[in-house]
Amino acid sequence: MSDKVLVTGGTGYIGSHTVVELQEAGYEVIVVDDLSNSGPEVLENIRKITGIKPAFSRFNLSDQAKTESFFNRHHDIRAIIHFAASKAVGESVEMPLHYYRNNLVSMLNILECQLKYGIPHMVFSSSCTVYGQPERLPVTEATPRKDAESPYGNTKRVNEDILRDAIQAYPQLRGIALRYFNPIGAHPTALIGELPLGVPQNLVPFITQTAAGLRDELKVFGNDYDTPDGSAIRDYINVVDLAKAHVVAIERLLQGKNKAGFEIFNLGTGQGSSVLEIVSAFEKVTGLQLNYRIVERRPGDIEKIWADTTLANQELGWKAEKGLEETLLSAWNWEKRIREL
Ligand code: WQD
Repeated sequence: MSDKVLVTGGTGYIGSHTVVELQEAGYEVIVVDDLSNSGPEVLENIRKITGIKPAFSRFNLSDQAKTESFFNRHHDIRAIIHFAASKAVGESVEMPLHYYRNNLVSMLNILECQLKYGIPHMVFSSSCTVYGQPERLPVTEATPRKDAESPYGNTKRVNEDILRDAIQAYPQLRGIALRYFNPIGAHPTALIGELPLGVPQNLVPFITQTAAGLRDELKVFGNDYDTPDGSAIRDYINVVDLAKAHVVAIERLLQGKNKAGFEIFNLGTGQGSSVLEIVSAFEKVTGLQLNYRIVERRPGDIEKIWADTTLANQELGWKAEKGLEETLLSAWNWEKRIREL
C-alpha cells in the first residue's frame, strides 16, 4: 500500500509537475484545486504521462467547512504538499484582502485539520521573494528575509511563520518550506506546462507567447541595472527539477530524516541569468528571432538574485540538472503544442 500524498493546487503549473513525479515515485496522489487558475484537463494530461489519473476534489481551501469535510473523508493522507494560493504579484497589490484571506486562511484550515486528523507532514511552496533584494549574493537560507515587495510575497513570508510556529507549538507536526527561485519550462512530453490566464506576468511564458505570435513584442523591463548587460538577473530553475525536489522533501519527512521540526531549503540552480541572456538563449535554441524592446523598469522588481544551493545539495541530496537551453526549448515545445503550431 503506497503512501497517500495530498497535493493542493495540483492542477497548477508546479503542482501538476509535482503530481507526475510523485506518481512516478510510487506515491498515491490526491489533488485539491479550485480551478481558479487551471483547468481539469490537466488531470487527464497527467494520466497520459503516468497512466494514473489522480483523485481530485474541487474546492477552495479557505472554505473551512469544505476543508474539514475533505479531511474527514481522507484520514489516510500521510503528507501534504501545499501549493494552492493566489500568486499574481501585481494583482495582490490591487486585491490585498483577497490574497491574505485566500492564502493565509487556507494554510490555517489545513494545519488545523492536520492536528485534528493526525497528518504530521507538510511541504510548503514558498518563494525567494521573501529575500527581497539581498545585500549579498548568492542567497543562503540564513540570508535575512526582507519586507515583502507585495501582499503576495508577504503571504509567503507569513505562511512560513505560521508553519514554523505551529510546529513549535505542536511537536507532532513536521514541515519543510521550499523557497523557489524562478521556475520555468515544461514537462518533456509537452503535455503539462505553464498556462497563465490572460497576459503573462512572468518572463518565459511572455517570450513563448511572443514567439507564437500571440503578443506583438516582449518588453524588457529595464537595461540600466548594475549587471553585465544592464538587464535584471534571476535564477531560472527547470520545473521538473523543482518537482523532483518536492518528492525528496516528502521522503525526508516520511522517513524521519529531517533534522529539525521545521526546515527551509532554497531551490535554485545557483546560476544567475539576465533577461537578455534568456532572450538570446531562447533565440539560439529555437532558431527564432524574438521581437523585443527595452522599456523602463517594472515597479517592484529587484535587480539581481540567485541561490546558494549548498544546503539542498548536501541535506536533500538534490540538485538542478537541466540546463537553460533544454529548459527554454521545453517551454517552446509546450507553447507550440497548446497553440497547435
Ligand atoms: C523575471 C525577470 C522582469 C516579464 C515573480 C514572483 C516570484 C515567482 C516568480 C510566483 C524580471 C523581467 C518579466 C516581461 C521582463 N512567482 N520581465 N518582461 O518577478 O522574478 O518573480 O515570479 O511564485 O515569487 O516574484 O519573475 O518572470 O515576472 O520576471 O523583462 O514581460 O524578467 O523584470 O527581471 P520575478 P518574472
